[in-house]
This record gives sequence, C-alpha cells and structure tokens, in this order.
Amino acid sequence: MSEKRVYIETFGCQMNLADSEMVLDALAKDGYSVCDSSKDASLVLYNTCSVRDNAEGKIRGRLDHLKGVKKERPEMKIGIMGCMAQREKAELLKKYPHLDLVVGTDQFVHMPALIEQLEEQKQIAATEFGDFEDRNWGSIRKDGINAWIPVMRGCNYNCTYCVVPNTRGKEKSRDPQLIEEDIRRVVDQGFSQVTLLGQTIDAYGKTLGDGTNFAKLLRRVHAIDGLKRIRFITSHPKDITDELLDTIAELPRVCKHLHVPAQCGSSRILRLMGRRYTREGYLDFVERARSRMPDVELLTDIIVGFPRETDADYQETVSLMHEVKFAGAYVFMYSPRPGTGAWNLEDDVPMEEKKARCNEILAIQLEHQEQWYKSLRGKTFEILVEGPSKSNPERLSGRSIGNLNIVIPRTDAAGNKRDHLIGDLVNVHINDSTNLTLFGDIEE
Ligand code: SAH
Ligand code: SF4
Ligand code: F3S
Repeated sequence: MSEKRVYIETFGCQMNLADSEMVLDALAKDGYSVCDSSKDASLVLYNTCSVRDNAEGKIRGRLDHLKGVKKERPEMKIGIMGCMAQREKAELLKKYPHLDLVVGTDQFVHMPALIEQLEEQKQIAATEFGDFEDRNWGSIRKDGINAWIPVMRGCNYNCTYCVVPNTRGKEKSRDPQLIEEDIRRVVDQGFSQVTLLGQTIDAYGKTLGDGTNFAKLLRRVHAIDGLKRIRFITSHPKDITDELLDTIAELPRVCKHLHVPAQCGSSRILRLMGRRYTREGYLDFVERARSRMPDVELLTDIIVGFPRETDADYQETVSLMHEVKFAGAYVFMYSPRPGTGAWNLEDDVPMEEKKARCNEILAIQLEHQEQWYKSLRGKTFEILVEGPSKSNPERLSGRSIGNLNIVIPRTDAAGNKRDHLIGDLVNVHINDSTNLTLFGDIEE
C-alpha cells in the first residue's frame, strides 16, 4: 500500500488531544489522510501518557500486539509520541525493535520530515527538548463545537509524585496575540466554545515577563465576537488570585467551573507532595471563590496512598471532601514514577489499603452528587448543546455554565429531530437525575 494513511490513538490529558490534532494537520499537509483503524493505516501513531504506571501499561500492551502486525505488514510504520516517548526516549526503540519512531513532546510537529528520514535510517528517536516554536500551527479537529487551545506548555512546579515536568519541560506561556489568532480562526470555522489548556493555567504569563497574566488573557479572549463559552483547565490553588476570581465572576461567557486539584486534605502530606499550600490555604481559596460566585463548581483531583499517608492523614482527605463538597472528583491511587522527587520514598501504603481509600472517596463524592443533583430538579439551566450523548444516542447532551452534564431527548414532542440545536445555547428544565447525569427538556 503506497497511499499515505495515518491512524492515531491518543492517551492521557487534553494537551495530548491538542497535540494529536496538530500532528494530524502536519501530516495532512504532507498528503496523509486520516483513518479510523490501524488495519488500514500506513502509519500508526500512539500519543502516550506517563502519569501513572497503568497509563503506560496500556501502551505497552498496544506495542506488544503490534509486533505480530508488523511481521505481516513490514511496510507499516509505527511511531510513539507524547509523554512516554519523552520519558523513555531511544530506550523504547531497544525495548521494541519493531518500533520505527520515537518523537518527543517538543518534536512532533516535525513528524513528516522524520518519516521521510526513515527511508535512510531504520529507527529514529527525536526527543530534543526546549525548542518548540510558538506559532499558529494548524489542527485537524473532529468535534465541531469545542476547540482545545493550548495557552502554555510545560510546568514550573515540581510536585514530588508528578512526571509532567520531566516529560513536558519548563513552563512556556504562549504569545497572547497568537492565542487570539488561533481562537479567531476556530470561531470562523463555527466553533461555539474554546477550552484553554495549561498544566497550571492560572500561572499563565509569568514567564513572559511583561505583566501579562491569565486574568488579562481571559478578558482578551472574552472580547472575541462569536464565542459562546470559554472554559479552561487546570488551575493550581496557589496561583488563583483575587484578580483572577473577580475576572471569572465578571465575564458572562467564562464558565463558572474551576478544576483546582486539592490532591489531599492533610497539610503534612501536601508538604511531602511539594504542593506549596496547606489544607487551610486550600480552604481559603474555596472561600474566596465561593464568596464571589456562590454557584461556582469546583472539581478536584485526589491522590490516595502517597508514601507515609497514615489513616489519620487519609481521614483529613475524607473530611475535606465533606467540608468542600466538590462538584466532581477524579480519584487516583498513588503510582511511583521514575525520575520524580517521591521515587526514592518507599511506596509503603499497601495496594489493598489504596484501593479501599480510593473507593471510599469515590463513594463520598457520588453520594454528594446524588443529593445535590436531586436538589437541582425543577431548576432551569442554560446549556450549550454539544452533540448526541455518548451513553445514549437518543439524547443530546450539553453542559451548564458550570460543568453539569445535562441531557435532553433528541426528538421533540412532535417527533422531530433536534440536531439543529447542536452548538446552540438552550434553556433546560431539570426533571430527573442520577449521581452522574441530569435529565431535562427544553423550556418552552
Ligand atoms: N497539571 C495538573 C495535573 C496533571 S496530572 C495539575 O497540576 O493539577 C493529573 C492528575 O493526575 C494530578 O492532578 C494528580 O491527581 C494525578 N497524578 C499525577 N501523578 C500521579 C501519580 N504519580 N500517581 C497517582 N496520581 C497522579
Ligand atoms: Fe504535575 Fe504539579 Fe505541575 Fe500539576 S503542578 S503538572 S501536578 S508538577
Ligand atoms: Fe499524561 Fe503527559 Fe498529559 S503524562 S496527563 S499526557 S501531560
């Protein structure tokens, strides 16, 4: 098969999704078409995540499987990009001799040239770091409603459990002018919403050194005509200033949703994690946010079983969950990562205990969500309709100005499809709920 056809599978966070969209654009300009299955592909790419060992485990599984496929179709090229590529570099080529390419988190935009080099070189690792050029790279986006817009790359913190600073390098805030141009382009293409991306997005601008900050960036983005909603992830508790909270509260199209991971409720463990705030500091942020925006939705990440986490420490996380009542929570069991500050600490919380803690925190969160969602029945929310619901295509799903997932019937009372509403804002009256979803119908 001489045709250029690429299949890409993306793991990990939204930054990886955005990078995949960029690499597809670079390849399309080089004559590639995108296909839905590795079976039809002349190039298979995995955009990988290293955040926990099980994330890498999935990719190791894919690579083992491709060994047989490569024997049958030796002309098919296999490439690894993303955080695992950056972490393991050329080592991956030794471990998996059937791999052709390993491309780091600052090199993937050069993918077409690297593939060309494969004609002269059997295996290539391109993992140089630090020279990612900030410009209006193109992107091929499947979703026509929400566009991911990276505003900074890398991270300047060093949380002791976290591999991201190793795989993504130092923080680099993007030029606000280029960000604005990227957003104007997606608005012209008909997108209704942007989600601005950064590992510690509330620290945006510090490295630019010209007084730019995230509050100012939000104002600039908010002034762009045609955007219905502006979202952003992820914030670090230490960098959410009053100026930023005031700005979010003031701008009507900026979502009242803050993904601000607490990670844990014990100040002792937070210090071992290198998080740079205490339990009290976190609660102070919650108070500052809620005093300005009573309905603001707070989403957290929690890690259970960090080294030396005693039952007393863990109980502080339990009490934090009850005290804050988060709108949502991602709960993870600690996974030691090579090259991080905590790698040399003994992983001393037994697996059984980690599982029990993880399940209990999740149960607390779901119980809270169930009660809270019940209390929302009878209320009305404006939602941006995003498309058919993934769990039931008979419904359309959308999100509130917070981050509530709300579904409505896909057909109206007269039996007509409502797909023309996708991308629009509509008012929805809530009539039912579970602990994960709110059900409603359009208010007449
Ligand atoms: N930049 C984001 C988070 C990046 S990683 C931030 O700073 O908030 C996403 C989440 O994965 C983290 O918030 C953390 O809860 C979890 N995580 C990161 N490293 C982990 C590890 N080694 N073990 C378990 N969970 C981890
Ligand atoms: Fe990782 Fe901490 Fe940076 Fe987030 S702030 S990416 S958890 S080092
Ligand atoms: Fe994973 Fe890298 Fe994102 S480690 S979470 S893909 S920044």
